[in-house]
Amino acid sequence: MDTFEPQIVAFCCKYCAYAAADLAGSMRLSYPPNVKIVQLPCTGRVDIFHLLKAIEDGADGVYVAGCLEGECHFLKGNLRARKKVEYVKRTLVELGIEPERVEMYNLSSAMGPRFAEIAREMTDRVRELGPSPVKAEAFA
Ligand code: FES
Repeated sequence: MDTFEPQIVAFCCKYCAYAAADLAGSMRLSYPPNVKIVQLPCTGRVDIFHLLKAIEDGADGVYVAGCLEGECHFLKGNLRARKKVEYVKRTLVELGIEPERVEMYNLSSAMGPRFAEIAREMTDRVRELGPSPVKAEAFA
């Protein structure tokens, strides 16, 4: 039997999560190759549309990783991102899609191990949920 390998898109702020991903790489910490990283200047730039579009385009899970609360370089970008993630979760519920497919994380550039842990956590969570129903519909 084929094992389902989820496709995950991670919208990462360049000041924290993206730098943490780099650090994880230099520390030779492995994390699942399922995660495709999209770099942003700040998670405040992520749009509800980007998150929904990623799912529509076939991602089984999506997450946003921004600076720790109170440490966004643009003051409240990460707080705005969290609200957008929560909005998308509610929208998914209305569409009959598991809201756990979308998540918001906060970390610092020094948290390479945490970056790898988040990538594993999301991959395991989405693997358990199975393929996105959007994907299943598209190929039905
Ligand atoms: Fe990192 Fe805003 S600068 S989330």
